[in-house]
Amino acid sequence: MANCEFSPVSGDKPCCRLSRKAQVGLGVGVLLLLIILVVAVVAVVRWRSPLEWNGEGTTKHFSEIFLGRCFVYTQIIRPELRNKDCTQIMAAFKGAFISKNPCSITKEDYQPLIQLDTKAVPCNKTLFWSKSKDLAHQYTWVHGNIFTLEDTLLGYIADDLTWCGDPSTSEVNEQSCPHWKKDNCPNNAASVFWKVVSQKFAEAACGVVQVMLNGSLSEPFYRNSTFGSVELLNLNPRKVHTLQAWVMHDIGGATSNSCSGSSLNELKLIAMSRNITFVCQDNY
Ligand SMILES: *[C@@H]1O[C@H](CO)[C@@H](O)[C@H](O)[C@H]1NC(C)=O
Ligand SMILES: *[C@@H]1O[C@H](CO)[C@@H](O)[C@H](O)[C@H]1NC(C)=O
Ligand SMILES: *[C@@H]1O[C@H](CO)[C@@H](O)[C@H](O)[C@H]1NC(C)=O
Ligand SMILES: *[C@@H]1O[C@H](CO)[C@@H](O)[C@H](O)[C@H]1NC(C)=O
Repeated sequence: MANCEFSPVSGDKPCCRLSRKAQVGLGVGVLLLLIILVVAVVAVVRWRSPLEWNGEGTTKHFSEIFLGRCFVYTQIIRPELRNKDCTQIMAAFKGAFISKNPCSITKEDYQPLIQLDTKAVPCNKTLFWSKSKDLAHQYTWVHGNIFTLEDTLLGYIADDLTWCGDPSTSEVNEQSCPHWKKDNCPNNAASVFWKVVSQKFAEAACGVVQVMLNGSLSEPFYRNSTFGSVELLNLNPRKVHTLQAWVMHDIGGATSNSCSGSSLNELKLIAMSRNITFVCQDNY
């Protein structure tokens, strides 16, 4: 540049051509650098961003809801549990799925959590349900001293919540979580949790246990339901002597006699093969 200004002989033409060349070179260099930078940033963001799924993301304000429900349960609903540490329970809960691929969660992942919930339901007070959740919960709400899974600490906390983690972050994924069917993901964080707590709930049952079934359905007892595939098979025949089914029909609906139908007969055979007495009652 200095050459250019103080060279009257050569004029500024060749000099400025050189400078333009330099400018072009510099421009191309900067452009290349920018492209590389953008590519790098996109790559990092893509790599850091959570996996995308077809199900709803983690419930908003998950931690606040978790802790709130835990305190309501341990301080108000069952004050005999007031010494439980809700922060510790949430840490164990999150430890099961945080920073992991949400489709490869195992039962073992939830073991530390399960061990914190030691309160067993008293004998004769367990109520299972299948496709009759609302009615079952109304029933336990009215008859305070009988328990569905959602009346136990962990069931109460997790009821109707959605949650999953992601390998790229230690946060919950609020954008999306795997749908067990659409994402072909049977071992997702929530399904495995419900399997584990349902199994434990059934193993702990004793005396006479009840199951509320939906008589409006063609198969009130459905083998692939949680009750048919997990709870029924984990009842301990040495502790549970009777399984009592209540088949509920919608008021005003067709009055069918489901207890003598093939679906309930299948349940009866399974119970009997496990040495558990079976009793069935239509419209309890
Ligand atoms: C459970 O119910 C059975 C039969 O109704 C009864 O014999 C037993 O005493 C009950 N057990 C408890 C702990 O209430
Ligand atoms: C039985 O299932 C039907 C159809 O899903 C539902 O509309 C009804 O509320 C259920 N009945 C009970 C008692 O939950
Ligand atoms: C029930 O579960 C069995 C075994 O997991 C599976 O092969 C079958 O397709 C399921 N049935 C339905 C109707 O989903
Ligand atoms: C049921 O009871 C009979 C006789 O008490 C016993 O031989 C059999 O092994 C039991 N079956 C199961 C599945 O516990």
